[in-house]
Amino acid sequence: MIKYNIQDHVIVVTGAAGQLGQAIVSRAIGLGAKVACLDTSLENLEKISISNGWGDSVLLFQSDITNKESIELTFNQIVNKYNKIDALINNAGVSVFDPWFDRNEEDFDWVMNVNLKGTFNCMKEFFKLLIDSNYPGAVVNVASHYGIISPDPKIYTDCDRRNSEIYGATKAGVIQMTKYFAVNAIADGAKVRVNAIAPGGIKNSASPQGDDFQRLYSERCPMKRMAEVDEIVGPILFLVSSDASYINGQTIVIDGGMTAW
Ligand SMILES: NC(=O)c1ccc[n+]([C@@H]2O[C@H](COP(=O)([O-])OP(=O)(O)OC[C@H]3O[C@@H](n4cnc5c(N)ncnc54)[C@H](O)[C@@H]3O)[C@@H](O)[C@H]2O)c1
Repeated sequence: MIKYNIQDHVIVVTGAAGQLGQAIVSRAIGLGAKVACLDTSLENLEKISISNGWGDSVLLFQSDITNKESIELTFNQIVNKYNKIDALINNAGVSVFDPWFDRNEEDFDWVMNVNLKGTFNCMKEFFKLLIDSNYPGAVVNVASHYGIISPDPKIYTDCDRRNSEIYGATKAGVIQMTKYFAVNAIADGAKVRVNAIAPGGIKNSASPQGDDFQRLYSERCPMKRMAEVDEIVGPILFLVSSDASYINGQTIVIDGGMTAW
């Protein structure tokens, strides 16, 4: 595995208790970074931190990204502890899986709030800090290939996680917001690069997708398989690192070629 130069970086990871979040945190601290882990349940974060052996390389925060006061407070606490934040990885994301004709307003608002408003809240706090400190930073927003293409209903036979219209719309919004801030945060005085990744389906060994779904998904994908979680983490840390120092406003699609046809 490539050793990206993020030694002593302070990195904020939202949704740190999730499948991808945990993998990001583990690899980042393995490369010498300090990580502020944000998620909705502190108890859950504490359990996960112990089972992963994260030790004092992490700070854990019960912090709801949809709540701007909670985010403001959390960012202040991180800066009080480390004096800086080098990178923000906006990884927290949610979806609903009911068919669109059963969609209710509450579900719609929840997905909008977490995926778009939450991503915005964290970027706003980070940019304010970068403008005040004149310190350089990097943002990686986690979008999805379903922000680019639609789920193919034919492959969701034994998988009840067929992503929704609102999920895809918010992930398309994350890709667009990435471009907006890649241009405008710099114009407004933040020394920052803002990029996104758009993963395809990630294999989940803790809660496996249906066998039929995995087979049909793999048949549809040019590389004939789903992604391993580490294959998503590498490009995220690359974008955070100085190896990506002239990459700004881009979305790296990590989907085995699924969106290439
Ligand atoms: N798993 C995939 O196949 C896949 C594919 C493409 C994109 N993605 C994206 O990758 C990201 C991570 O996905 P995952 O599979 O690890 O999901 P996950 O459900 O395992 O983790 C998401 C985490 O976000 C946290 N979260 C939810 N709402 C929050 C809030 N308001 N404030 C703070 N934290 C909150 C959850 O508690 C959870 O720990 C998401 O943005 C998702 O849309 C995932």
